[in-house]
Amino acid sequence: MARKYIVEGGTNLQGEITIRGAKNAVTKEMVAALLAPGVSRLRNVPDIGDVDITRRVLESLGCGVRHDAAAGTLEIDGSTLSTPEVPAEYSGLNRIPILMVGPLLHRFGRAVVPMMGGCGIGERPIDFHLQGFESLGAKVEYHDGAYHFSAERLTGTRITLPFPSVGATENLMMAAALAHGTTEIRNAAIEPEIVDLALLLQAMGAIISQETDRTWVIQGVDSLRPADHRVLNDRIEAASFAVSAVATGGDVFIRGADQLHLLTFLNWLRRAGGEFDVKPDGIRFYGRDRKLKSIAAETGVHPGLMTDWQQPLVILLTQATGMSVIHETVYENRFGYVEALNRMGAHIQVFDECLGGKDCRFRHLGHRHSAVILGPTPLRGAEMEIPDLRAGFSYLVAAVLAKGKSTLTGVRYIERGYDHVVEKFRSLGASIEVVEE
Ligand code: EPZ
Repeated sequence: MARKYIVEGGTNLQGEITIRGAKNAVTKEMVAALLAPGVSRLRNVPDIGDVDITRRVLESLGCGVRHDAAAGTLEIDGSTLSTPEVPAEYSGLNRIPILMVGPLLHRFGRAVVPMMGGCGIGERPIDFHLQGFESLGAKVEYHDGAYHFSAERLTGTRITLPFPSVGATENLMMAAALAHGTTEIRNAAIEPEIVDLALLLQAMGAIISQETDRTWVIQGVDSLRPADHRVLNDRIEAASFAVSAVATGGDVFIRGADQLHLLTFLNWLRRAGGEFDVKPDGIRFYGRDRKLKSIAAETGVHPGLMTDWQQPLVILLTQATGMSVIHETVYENRFGYVEALNRMGAHIQVFDECLGGKDCRFRHLGHRHSAVILGPTPLRGAEMEIPDLRAGFSYLVAAVLAKGKSTLTGVRYIERGYDHVVEKFRSLGASIEVVEE
């Protein structure tokens, strides 16, 4: 049954919400649990669609998974894994199937993963993953709509990624944990969610260290054991609600917002005129008199400005005085969503030049990856079809900010990644009706 949200806008958000575990850590950690026989436990698990999809993928491979959504715990029994073949129906649902290659290869000597499609934010190829597995000694073939991997045992090696890919780093890190010998992953991603995965692997018995210059060194061990791990808090959820508070001229305490993981975001928020007070258990965000200022920023890999913070920031900048520029350097096609914002009254133009920063790898390739936002523009309610998860949240913020009624369809995208999003917005005073069709 399709659901839609009907939002009556014009609310200053006020109150308190609590952040849950990070979507982009928990789903990978569910996979990592398969590296050990026995039951691993994850805590601080968000109640989101992506956890559910990943649970179904794991169950389709024979794993026992117990999810207590109210308690925020997951128990994953890797010992019952019974097949190395991820069913085709899970292709394209999320990015998880390709991350299962390491555990499946170690357990069965082979892995079959259905082909993943591109998506609304770019092509999202998996060439770094494939090359990495070949470097570790796996044979990789593509036929019948799936990638087929095989290896007796992976062998440690030195891998230099062409770009610090989050998924490829995680995939190779998990695979290397049980490989023969030592693996060095250079030019790797070092996002907090990856560090959290490394902490889980270490708790499971892996020998893994982070070295300078984006390098992970993993000394393979013969076996791993189950672990009990608390997932780090979601810095995307925290930043998204922070922007919602500031953009609406509201005042919201975000319990669990972690300054360490929001360092870069907080600097940009302050430059744009957003206010915040750091407390021991969270951060209070507020938009005093809504005196917001334009900025020129570019997204980048950690510790840069996250690409997943870009969409809510753009909403904020529609309310700032002057011309702002955002240069997106992680994904080539992540501004498709601004068309709907322009229908709401925003003035946003997207260019294929590298504006507002250094030239990036998308220069001269014709990708529309720089946005110029002219503000402040009052927004008015509109009908919007959500194209992807992060764009979906920013449509919701825009709808809460706008005058009048907005209708959002395709809300399953938002529910894939944000824990109890409607309840959280309602508790801050927003008027959102959920309609089942
Ligand atoms: C993760 O995607 C996140 N997803 C994304 O969040 C996030 O935006 C992204 O990292 C960057 O932080 C999950 O964790 C599930 P990448 P991932 O590999 O791992 C190119 C969300 O909404 N690339 O770091 O797939 C790629 O095309 C999502 O939560 C290759 O060219 O991202 C992109 O331009 C959206 N070849 C860049 O690298 C490869 O083999 C970064 O991608 C792999 C990646």
